[in-house]
Amino acid sequence: MANRVPFIAGNWKMNLDHQQAIALVQKLAWTLNEAGHDYQGAEVAVFPPFTDLRTVQTLIDAEKFELALGAQDLSKHDSGAYTGEISGAFLAKLDVKYVLIGHSERRSYHNEDDAVVQAKTAAAFRHGLVPVICVGETLEELEAEGASAVPVRQTLAALAGHDNLGEFVIAYEPVWAIGTGKVATPEEAANVCGKIREAIAQQYGDELAGKTRILYGGSVKANNVAGFLKSVEVDGVLVGGASLDADEFSGIARFQKHIAL
Ligand code: PGA
Repeated sequence: MANRVPFIAGNWKMNLDHQQAIALVQKLAWTLNEAGHDYQGAEVAVFPPFTDLRTVQTLIDAEKFELALGAQDLSKHDSGAYTGEISGAFLAKLDVKYVLIGHSERRSYHNEDDAVVQAKTAAAFRHGLVPVICVGETLEELEAEGASAVPVRQTLAALAGHDNLGEFVIAYEPVWAIGTGKVATPEEAANVCGKIREAIAQQYGDELAGKTRILYGGSVKANNVAGFLKSVEVDGVLVGGASLDADEFSGIARFQKHIAL
């Protein structure tokens, strides 16, 4: 790990209604705090469905939980006749700090290509949100081009053409490792995260590359997280399935304990 603040992000996907969200967040805050803040130093964020955001915001605010709030998507537009879409302005109003963009499920089920991801990244910047830009190769792409070509290309496409780059996070999630139980090895993850950082450095300079957090995602659990975070190239994890279980997710957030052992 470098001196970037480690980021532990839980993507709930389309799980948990707003009442179930209350139960999970309460249990999570309690579990994280028990054993005396030994996740300190890491930033922990949850990414609930849109309909839970107001409830979770209110709970975090009232209880002073040390949890950041993220959304799973946003519109590339700011307002108007876009039925069903959610503006970054609405998210900012709810104290949402982070927003996932270009998750592989959006890329494949909603045909979100690099141009859409770039436009949504611009929308996040316009509203002061930190985009968590998801990149990763499918199994076919891995076989045809190796591991890093697609994620590097997707990263540069998302970052191109903005007047000013605000803060952003990159999440490297090999598509073949999402929800499958197949995990990239820590070496594979570190290698691709390193290649992404190199590409950012080449295009935008060492300073930006040095402060950008690059995460690994794909079947991360409490018992394999430490391997990824040992590498200086991997600054955190984006967790799907395991973020729905408070004990498991807080076990991930307390990764330092595993590293120290
Ligand atoms: P998973 O999902 O942890 O369930 O593999 C990761 C993700 O899709 O962000």
